[in-house]
Amino acid sequence: MRDEELVRLSLQFKERAYAPYSGIKVGAVLLTAGGEVAFGVNVENASYGLTLCAERGAVARAISEGLKDWVVMAVAWNREDFCCPCGACRQVLFELAPDLRVLMANCRGEYQEGVVRALLPSAFHL
Ligand code: THU
Repeated sequence: MRDEELVRLSLQFKERAYAPYSGIKVGAVLLTAGGEVAFGVNVENASYGLTLCAERGAVARAISEGLKDWVVMAVAWNREDFCCPCGACRQVLFELAPDLRVLMANCRGEYQEGVVRALLPSAFHL
């Protein structure tokens, strides 16, 4: 699947987000080398700190489904600027897939590309 197509899927999928508090809808799609995909959206809660980010939703889904060999993740939202994963998501991605490419998109489907290990310099690891 081409990068543009993955970005388009993440934009489409973000509509499933549960974001009544911030109004910010985020969609993440993780693609494996075998062409399988795992989706995630942000899931907010009235107890704000319990909110789950879209990226970690996709990670949980991929692991639960037994999907391996992650090659690229697209993440998009309903804003004009690029959707960059938060620090917590970067830490989780670093442990599981430090060489994962990340496509950080805006609401128009434009995106910038990064790699997890470069997005989290001097990462904590055991
Ligand atoms: N959010 C994500 O889904 N991913 C991130 O990497 C950062 C933030 C969500 C959480 C919350 O529902 C909304 O964006 C505003 O912070």
